[in-house]
Amino acid sequence: MFLMIHPAGAIRVRFSQVRVSAVRSCSNWLGRSKLLATRKGQRRRKKDEGQTTNLLMHRLRVTADKSAYDVVVGRGAWRALRRFPVARYSRVFVLTERALWNRWGKQFLRESGLKRVHCVLVPPGETSKTLKMVERVASELLEGGADRRALLIAFGGGVIGDLGGFVASTYMRGIDCVQAPTTVVAQVDSAVGGKTAVNVGAMKNLVGTFHPPRLVLADPVVLTSLGDRAFRSGLYEVVKHAILDGPAFFLELEARFDSLRSSDPESLEPVLLQAVKVKVDVVGRDEREAGLRRVLNLGHTFGHALEEATAYRRFLHGEAVGWGLLGVARLGQRLGLLGRDESERVAALVRRVGPLPPIQDLAPAKILELLPRDKKAIGGRIHWVVPERIGKIRIVPDVPAAVVRAAFRDIQGQV
Ligand SMILES: NC(=O)c1ccc[n+]([C@@H]2O[C@H](COP(=O)([O-])OP(=O)(O)OC[C@H]3O[C@@H](n4cnc5c(N)ncnc54)[C@H](O)[C@@H]3O)[C@@H](O)[C@H]2O)c1
Ligand SMILES: [Zn+2]
Repeated sequence: MFLMIHPAGAIRVRFSQVRVSAVRSCSNWLGRSKLLATRKGQRRRKKDEGQTTNLLMHRLRVTADKSAYDVVVGRGAWRALRRFPVARYSRVFVLTERALWNRWGKQFLRESGLKRVHCVLVPPGETSKTLKMVERVASELLEGGADRRALLIAFGGGVIGDLGGFVASTYMRGIDCVQAPTTVVAQVDSAVGGKTAVNVGAMKNLVGTFHPPRLVLADPVVLTSLGDRAFRSGLYEVVKHAILDGPAFFLELEARFDSLRSSDPESLEPVLLQAVKVKVDVVGRDEREAGLRRVLNLGHTFGHALEEATAYRRFLHGEAVGWGLLGVARLGQRLGLLGRDESERVAALVRRVGPLPPIQDLAPAKILELLPRDKKAIGGRIHWVVPERIGKIRIVPDVPAAVVRAAFRDIQGQV
């Protein structure tokens, strides 16, 4: 992937040159292998289901300025906890949601080998990402005997990951956290990178910290219980990562797309892996969002405004990003940066994910008014993340309002 910051001199970045992690070796508690992409091809009996399954785990390494940790992706990923030094911790807590834990808790405990955990349950959904909930979870940790050597495992989607990460970063000035993401959004995006946050009033992620996890475990099997809409919502973020990554991943996604829609873990695995690599690569080079990490905001400028304009009720996050990707493709085209063919390819892939909630009733003036409120705006200036090609991104600080309005109108017309 190339990144170009415009107009103050070009900063070009090519992913293929990155030292990162994806297929390099490291020797730590997880691995004896020289390969970071650990292929565990051995056949293992699934005792509970009486069937045989092929385990395929891939280990990526985030090596950033202030942290280094593994991201294990693939069927059987939870088993990687067996090699994690759990005995070093005084107690292990799992932050999760009741229905999710009822469905997957036993399997998680069996595979991870954890003997005693203390569960802290919170209600599902964005409404749990509040300071009030932080207080409640911290109180439950205290009552459960958590001291500074306690470990918190965030077992859930992006909400649990953000909340759990925030609690872990502040409880007794910081305890260790493991992320066990259970949605597509969380696996390819939120669980990696160490950004934690809760919302304040209507302002999303207003209060937050950087608190990198000790380990991330992304098993696609858990995605089989996701509802169709939540699953598809995560695929928009996968499309975003493919646009950032380059033609090879984008082409692969186009070719495999129909099989992905089934949420079959085996078909999903290579795509998830590639999508996670994109995040790992970016975070490895810009953990604190000083520059490059902003590319992850692709599609999010329009997306956040759409979420806010509809009080977070109409769109799942990924759906708003889906519209946002359509919007920046048109914006890139109108700015003369992105060719028509590539713009249409991006739009076609977004459309293949499925139907999006409508935006036709939203006044462009309202959306434009909300754009500078995006937290990624600096001094009221919006830094647009615009594709110039698939795999080549440009940050454009000032786009005339008329062009933004026209791009938004374009996508409103694309029913
Ligand atoms: N920290 C970051 O870098 C970052 C990045 C992207 C998004 N986020 C945050 O992530 C959140 C969105 O994450 P999300 O889309 O995962 O939402 P979510 O955590 O609310 O999960 C979506 C829904 O799926 C349910 N669910 C979760 N796992 C399931 C499973 N395996 N089976 C069945 N149901 C399951 C949840 O109960 C919830 O109702 C937002 O708050 C967003 O701000 C953070
Ligand atoms: Zn997102």
